Amino acid sequence: MSLEKYVDPLPLPEVIEPVGQVNGVDLYKVVMKQVEQKLHRDLPKTTVWGYNGVFPGPTFEARTNVPIKVKWINDLPVDNHLLPVDKTVHGAEPPNPEVRTVVHLHGGNNPMDSDGYPEAWFTNSFKQVGPFFTAKIYNYPHIQPAATLWYHDHAIGITRLNVYAGLAGFYLLRDECEDQLNLPRGRYEVPLVIQDRSFNEDGSFFYPSQPDEPVPVFPSIVPEFFGETILVNGKVWPFLEVEPRKYRFRLLNGSNSRFYRMRFSSGQPFIQIGTDVGFLEKPVITNELILGPGERADVIINFTDFAGQHIVLTNDAPSPFPDGDPVEPNTTGQIIQFRVVLPLSGTDTSSIPTKLCAFEKLTEGDATRRRNQPLIEGEDEFGRLILLLEGLRWSDSVTDKPELGDVEIWNLINATPDTHPIHLHLVRFQILDRRPFDVEHYLATREIVYTGPPVTPDPNERGPKDTVRANPGEVTRIITRFEDFTGLYPWHCHILEHEDHEMMRPYEVVEEMEE
Ligand code: C2O
Ligand code: CU
Ligand code: CU
Repeated sequence: MSLEKYVDPLPLPEVIEPVGQVNGVDLYKVVMKQVEQKLHRDLPKTTVWGYNGVFPGPTFEARTNVPIKVKWINDLPVDNHLLPVDKTVHGAEPPNPEVRTVVHLHGGNNPMDSDGYPEAWFTNSFKQVGPFFTAKIYNYPHIQPAATLWYHDHAIGITRLNVYAGLAGFYLLRDECEDQLNLPRGRYEVPLVIQDRSFNEDGSFFYPSQPDEPVPVFPSIVPEFFGETILVNGKVWPFLEVEPRKYRFRLLNGSNSRFYRMRFSSGQPFIQIGTDVGFLEKPVITNELILGPGERADVIINFTDFAGQHIVLTNDAPSPFPDGDPVEPNTTGQIIQFRVVLPLSGTDTSSIPTKLCAFEKLTEGDATRRRNQPLIEGEDEFGRLILLLEGLRWSDSVTDKPELGDVEIWNLINATPDTHPIHLHLVRFQILDRRPFDVEHYLATREIVYTGPPVTPDPNERGPKDTVRANPGEVTRIITRFEDFTGLYPWHCHILEHEDHEMMRPYEVVEEMEE
């Protein structure tokens, strides 16, 4: 099926309003619903799952140090999932119900009972709940600086399917530092969530029910999913009419497995001001921007000199990344078109600040503990390839127990052939460096022999991060402080097919031990 590009305007998600207050704290209600939605001019309506009945869900506008409460409600079909469920993967086994949900605020510094632990799932009307379910209403304290957060489903064993069905949305957290930066705002600030999907002729979502190579399970999880079309804010290849002035875009890769390596057809640069969970120290100008699943970039794009032009945001990231199949230049090689055709409605008084907002930089000397975290291949009981963290499965006992307040360095040792976007809940981390090592020697001996010097992260990766690209054959070192909350939190690959098939581990922040 070939769909014409740039025939639908970009949808802008609505900003959600509170329904009331509890003890002076704003309360929001969000209902997950199955609805039909038009995803392209020439496609019949698609059945999707949306927060408040839209895909992507409404955008939260939140302020640092102003807490809110959210009641997440599942009003989805009770019995059958929209997509093929593999009942052999962790947490999806009977008698667990097929349709389960739990909401995670990605990038949020939240107490465990509001983090959306994968086994804290609940069904329609909370009739059934998972073993870690504790609260119907989540508390988001917002004790962290301004950031581009996003919320999405995280139910154990079916995260890939729930997110693919549509359960994701933006959550913008602002603070006083941001207020003073005089960035483009209002209609000149646009969130863009990029996702890939495939469709059946009748407009329904296509998601494979088994991998290409035969496996003894049906339906079976697939090693990765790459869609044939690219959607932004829930439309296939939309266009956006813009004025010849500066815009601020919040770019989010909300895809299951696909990476994007983006450029503008006009040759103009991205002026990147923020990473996953906060501002860079100063803007970084770059012609190319890579986002793995889960990563975000906060960018300013200046259309001032491009009046009259149609500019395409292109993608040339192979799948799997970085050495898989190339994109099709005419389809997956394109994302969205910007038409610089609107008249300037007034002087552009926004600025590109020379300095942004400061954040606490951690250095090696701050760390009291280092952990080796191998990323390696394995096999499940049906002979299917699985990717493992530490060589362990989700249900194996907890091995990583950072103490509250401690700074740790995690060495992500990627001995697999692909890049994995590794995400830690709860914390904001920094990337220290990446260093090539001898993979074969490592797999045989578990000893790291470096084959080159460490490489510092790209300038546009030097801000606060919660998801990092761990490239094949490299040890990627991240540093973070575990603070504010104790409890169990997941860390995982944000390729959702990997996450659902064992590439996820719990870690536990524990009280400080007495000396
Ligand atoms: Cu965006 Cu644990 O996920
Ligand atoms: Cu997260
Ligand atoms: Cu992965």
